[in-house]
Amino acid sequence: MTATRKVPFFDYSRLFLDNKKQLQNILEDVGGRGAYIMQQDLVKFETQLSKYTGAKFAVGVGNATDGLELSWLAIGLKKGDEVIISSHTMIATASAIVTAGGIPVPVEIGFDNLIDPQAISAAITKNTVGISPTQLNGRTCDMKSIMKIATENNLAVVEDAAQALGSKFNNQCAGTFGDAASFSFFPAKVLGTLGDGGGVVTSKKDIYEKVYQLHDHGRDTEGQTKSWGRNSRLDNLQAAILNKKFEQYDEVIQRRRAIANIYHENLKELEQLQLPPAPSNSGEYFDIFQNYELQADNRDQLREHLSNQGIGTIIQWGGKAVHQWEGLGFNLKLPKVEKFFTKCLMLPMNIFVSDEDLFYICDSIKRFYK
Ligand SMILES: Cc1ncc(COP(=O)(O)O)c(C=O)c1O
Repeated sequence: MTATRKVPFFDYSRLFLDNKKQLQNILEDVGGRGAYIMQQDLVKFETQLSKYTGAKFAVGVGNATDGLELSWLAIGLKKGDEVIISSHTMIATASAIVTAGGIPVPVEIGFDNLIDPQAISAAITKNTVGISPTQLNGRTCDMKSIMKIATENNLAVVEDAAQALGSKFNNQCAGTFGDAASFSFFPAKVLGTLGDGGGVVTSKKDIYEKVYQLHDHGRDTEGQTKSWGRNSRLDNLQAAILNKKFEQYDEVIQRRRAIANIYHENLKELEQLQLPPAPSNSGEYFDIFQNYELQADNRDQLREHLSNQGIGTIIQWGGKAVHQWEGLGFNLKLPKVEKFFTKCLMLPMNIFVSDEDLFYICDSIKRFYK
């Protein structure tokens, strides 16, 4: 059967084409002012980011990976220090620890496929200095348990909040639980720009000052060189685009939660699927659905079937958990996360997807299992 519809996993060109006039105006405005690096649009964005999350400080950086690394450097990670992470995360959570001099220690996932607090406790050694929980798929981890473990064991916490701007746990925003956090504005992110971009938030002045210096050649806000640093700045043009997109951000989140509801209502009867938690208004978990990641029986065949129906899907991180990449030297067995990676699949989840697209996707899945 030939596909009657096309639903790409993410249509990158629409990021530009759907807002062409607005984006051209931004380019003309920024270009006309010659305001490319560390200008008022960036300052405005940093202010918005800290206000929105509730953190005291924000620094725009080149990307979220740099944001994680600079956070660990600012905290003072030393060679041989261990940091516990989920094995279900982007490799960036781990590589940022490595490039800051430390050793990432991947652990198991819990009921909602985020890092399991019990696994964190079990992985603590005399070399453990930190935890880097990933607020995955737009859902914030059980930060109450994680912060309790961190406090009791005197561990630093850098949240990988790359996928979670606006996501909350117990009514508190992702990014504001630990010592620092890093957000990504990669094009496909919920707040995505036309290129790379990232932001670090923290409420600790010393960490803010250090991250600030690190991201701009060791210079402080007065331009005085205080330490060694590098260049990892968020472009002013990207900041100007992000400022515009911030105006509609809460509506975008609402739409993504509505999409998750449609998937949930239409797929919940299928016993061959394990769905992510449905959007809840209980105040405990407020998920922003960066991704809609489910587990499916006969995953690879389902994926092929959907592809034949014109529907794009993705297996996150290229199909492996962090510890499963052989070249990285981990020698670990983590059965839960390994099983998860035999079944996980992400369905289209973005504002370009219409309700009709969603019904088409759900019907195609139902037909596969019939
Ligand atoms: C969980 C997670 N961490 C880190 C990153 C890295 O973000 P960036 O591409 O902005 O460096 C991503 C981006 O996909 C991510 O999803």
